[in-house]
Amino acid sequence: MQEFDWKNNIGQKEEKIKLAERIAKRVRNGEVIGFGSGSTSYMAVEEIAKRVKEEKLSIKAIPTSKIIENLCKELGIEITTLDKEKPDWCFDGADEVDKHNWLIKGMGAALYKEKLNIKQSRENYILVDHTKFVEKLGEKHPVPIEVEKDKVEQVEEELKKLGATKVEIKLSNVEQGPLVTDNGNYILYAWFENIEPDFEEKINQIEGVIENGLFIGYDIIIIQ
Ligand code: A5P
Repeated sequence: MQEFDWKNNIGQKEEKIKLAERIAKRVRNGEVIGFGSGSTSYMAVEEIAKRVKEEKLSIKAIPTSKIIENLCKELGIEITTLDKEKPDWCFDGADEVDKHNWLIKGMGAALYKEKLNIKQSRENYILVDHTKFVEKLGEKHPVPIEVEKDKVEQVEEELKKLGATKVEIKLSNVEQGPLVTDNGNYILYAWFENIEPDFEEKINQIEGVIENGLFIGYDIIIIQ
């Protein structure tokens, strides 16, 4: 899934750099930190790497995508996994935030590990520029849903029963056909008029769904 360009052509770049600098200041020596995905997180990793190098900090990252994992390797940040260690805290971006701090995440197709990290950490920072705030969740973005390859049609039908007005498969930017996630699955985009509080759970109960990009009711700190 190396097809996202989180380094170039970034919208709201100035705002995102400031967010990245702010979160880099939170890093303390010896911490295990969950690293999110997307362009804001990418810049945060670069800022953290500067501190690690200049101040000779020893930290470990739990990356949520291959791209962020490779960036850590390139910049000399040690990597660990959730099987081995729990994060002291996590940071990540988001696609939409509403007034309850409910989120849509995963337009970068890394939602599976993003949710695992957030669930395992008691301190979660979500870095958002002003374009991410919405009156109503789902007003700008579909809900991304990671689905087993051979269950796409069944899942699509179930999503429509739940009220999805449109369901489409995320296509790859670099090759013919659908995007394949780091875990070897497809991503469906489901558009809803109304996202109910139990949709995160209901979507995950559909056979063939690995995880979805609704983050409802999590204890998070919004950094803007
Ligand atoms: C990655 O899968 C997403 O959850 C990102 O955190 C989200 O798409 C935000 O991306 P940007 O930081 O690029 O706006």
